[in-house]
Amino acid sequence: MRKTIIAGNWKMYKTITEAIELANGLKRELFELDLQRIEAVLCPPYTALSEVSEVITDSTIQLGAQDVFWLDEGAFTGEVSPKMLKDCGCGFVIIGHSERRQYFAETNDTVNKKIKAALKHGLTPIVCVGETLAEREGGKTFSVLEDHVRNGLKEIDGEDFAKIVVAYEPVWAIGTGKTATPAQAQEAHKYIRETLSAMFGADLAQGCRIQYGGSVKPENTRELMIQPDVDGALVGGASLSVQSFAAIVRTAAEVKK
Ligand code: PGA
Repeated sequence: MRKTIIAGNWKMYKTITEAIELANGLKRELFELDLQRIEAVLCPPYTALSEVSEVITDSTIQLGAQDVFWLDEGAFTGEVSPKMLKDCGCGFVIIGHSERRQYFAETNDTVNKKIKAALKHGLTPIVCVGETLAEREGGKTFSVLEDHVRNGLKEIDGEDFAKIVVAYEPVWAIGTGKTATPAQAQEAHKYIRETLSAMFGADLAQGCRIQYGGSVKPENTRELMIQPDVDGALVGGASLSVQSFAAIVRTAAEVKK
């Protein structure tokens, strides 16, 4: 059985004070979280990682970052290393988010380097893949997914692959209020799992958690989570308020697979 995983990607929102307030609120709301059923991960901006880590230290909520560089240290102005993220208390890191691909020249190659570096330091990568609207309309959804998965995860062995979380995020659904229909999400997740199966074998692919991301809200969580190949959510906008993120986590925990 794959344990559901809900991650909140706070993007470039929340000052330190605001982040502490949000994390405290979530800690109160989710204190009864049953870890046998579900994992909840908060991904604040770098500036708030240490403070949020302190707030959630005695809770079941976990911490992640939104990106990482692939080297341990060096003259790379503005970058943050996996070692530094571990030092802040991170257990997870989002890699290859479409906003990084779109605005910051992230490629499958840099994604691949970052995944390997994160794994080396014991961070769980949440690897984002997904097509743009033009690609979907051009009938290229599956080939884009195949490209992101095969090249992002190239030269990674089965043991390391088993630690990775994949997030399917159709770019046209991110921050637009347009969610993929449950059928569209399931179709893409199934395709991703088949690709993973061809790469790593059926057993490991069956064990891999694939999150859906793109306008997930409390109201659409259930219909998405009941899809057989949807194992959680990567939530942007709705992770910025205690009520909506807590509602998404609770709803996902209720869905029996
Ligand atoms: P959204 O963002 O929930 O605001 O659409 C999802 C994401 O970008 O991870």
